[in-house]
Amino acid sequence: MKIAIVGTSGAVGQELLRVLDERNFPLDELLLFGSSRSAGTSYNFRGKQVEVKELQHNDDFKDVDIAFVSAGGGTSLEFAETITKYGAIMIDNSSAFRMQDDVPLVVPEVNAEDALNSPRGIIANPNCTTAQLVVALQAIEEIAHIKRAHVATYQAASGAGAAAMQELEDQYKQLVNGEEPTVSKFAYQLAYNLIPQVDVFTDNGYTKEEMKMYNETRKIMHSNIEVSATCVRVPVMRAHSEAIWIETERPISVEEAREAFSKAKGVEVIDNPSAREYPMPLGLSGKDPVYVGRIRKDLANENGLTFWTVSDQIRKGAALNAVQIAEYLIS
Ligand code: HSE
Repeated sequence: MKIAIVGTSGAVGQELLRVLDERNFPLDELLLFGSSRSAGTSYNFRGKQVEVKELQHNDDFKDVDIAFVSAGGGTSLEFAETITKYGAIMIDNSSAFRMQDDVPLVVPEVNAEDALNSPRGIIANPNCTTAQLVVALQAIEEIAHIKRAHVATYQAASGAGAAAMQELEDQYKQLVNGEEPTVSKFAYQLAYNLIPQVDVFTDNGYTKEEMKMYNETRKIMHSNIEVSATCVRVPVMRAHSEAIWIETERPISVEEAREAFSKAKGVEVIDNPSAREYPMPLGLSGKDPVYVGRIRKDLANENGLTFWTVSDQIRKGAALNAVQIAEYLIS
């Protein structure tokens, strides 16, 4: 098995290396690609140094079986043909192809088999907030159809990349030193603040991030579910949180919901309010599951249920999901 990573030096590329190693992904050869800037850097993988090559339009992908691509939508669009033309499957982390009809959009806990039908050799990984949402929703969908979901996200700096994480850390230091904080990766200062805007606004007043939750959820779940989201950037370093309200076609009890979450693939329940036990990003960064807690009835809706989720944006929201797709393909 010959595996390639495109965008090795980024936060997701680095996590891909860790996830492939931790999960003993069966590979005989690993090729690493990056921009001209990162070409020449090398990374240790299973005791061997592997050098990053510059991504170019050539035959480097000739014998590659699976390419994980995480270098931004522009790179994915420009290089998809080069990467797939000899038969490599491209598992793409960008939003470039997600909503195209001939590109499956896959979260293995929900629609793994969609990965088997990729006529263009491209399989898309969803946005991090969607991956986390659908894993939790699927648990309930198994027992009662979900008609609509309202979601409020609390998104960590990691979602904006490694440089943004550094900017948040720098902002706190600068403020302590009485300096003007650097603001370049976020719309505003994030330290001691939150920003009710992730990505740019679209014509309907929602941001692109919020519309991804609407569109991608429907595609992955093969459902007519209505999703309305407010996406917020918070000064958390890593792992996104989501408050979710759902309406099901029949009322479901908290006990039923807890049992469904407990049985669901990819979900772990932390829900003991009297002991102040619920999921929080600080302790759950770097972990694989989607954690669910604070499960309760929606007081404003007889058929409603509300709960809280936390999941690591770089793992289930990106690298882990991509590797799980690859594992499914070779299983
Ligand atoms: N778009 C997400 C965010 C990242 O900005 O948090 C998803 O990986």
